[in-house]
Amino acid sequence: MELYETMRTLRAVRRLKPDPIPEPVLRRVLESAPTGGNVQPWRMVVVREPALKQRLGELYSERWRLYTAARQPPATISEEARARMTRTYKAGDYLATHFGETPAVVVFCFNPNQMAITDAKQPRPAVVGGGSIYTAVENLLLACRAEGLGCVLTTLLCECEPEVRTLLSIPDPWYTAAAIPIGYPVGRGHGALIRRPIEQLAYTDTWGKPL
Ligand SMILES: Cc1cc2nc3c(=O)[nH]c(=O)nc-3n(C[C@H](O)[C@H](O)[C@H](O)COP(=O)(O)O)c2cc1C
Repeated sequence: MELYETMRTLRAVRRLKPDPIPEPVLRRVLESAPTGGNVQPWRMVVVREPALKQRLGELYSERWRLYTAARQPPATISEEARARMTRTYKAGDYLATHFGETPAVVVFCFNPNQMAITDAKQPRPAVVGGGSIYTAVENLLLACRAEGLGCVLTTLLCECEPEVRTLLSIPDPWYTAAAIPIGYPVGRGHGALIRRPIEQLAYTDTWGKPL
């Protein structure tokens, strides 16, 4: 696929078929990505064993129910925004119910000792370390898109990281950053994105100066 077309249509696809992914296709999407110092402080656990996926699905489902219960659409939002949120939640419910049936769940792990976290001492949550992980995650998502595979970046399982680490035998000092269910889409899958206009997100020269 053309790169811009791939990026502009990389939607969160939550309705995935259980059909297997051919091995060469899966291998292509697992190929590597840039990281600080090129050390690749991440590993992927590609979960395909049904019992493991089922348990991950149960854990994910619990987290999803709590997440949505705490975030109902506020009364003040527009009808359009409400409809969009309802659609997202329905797709999310589908994913939560079928998480364990997706053919592959890629659990991204990271080792903080191998990362140059240049903002670690700033008086705010550090984000630079994530740059050595989520660049690889994004490449995986883009590769899925190019292969016609549906996928969605999920992070809810990080809330129950100890259980996930035990389940997948993830050793110290490796932790989890994301779990990406991958499979062929049930419906149309990826498609045009809804994003805020770039003028609201990017400035010229100094903060707030219009682009
Ligand atoms: C850091 C991050 C974490 C996310 N975690 C979840 C998640 O746990 N579950 C989920 O269904 N979607 C998750 N998403 C997907 C977003 O909800 C999705 O990208 C957003 O709703 C916009 O949808 P679109 O990409 O299809 O336009 C996550 C996305 C990002 C970037």
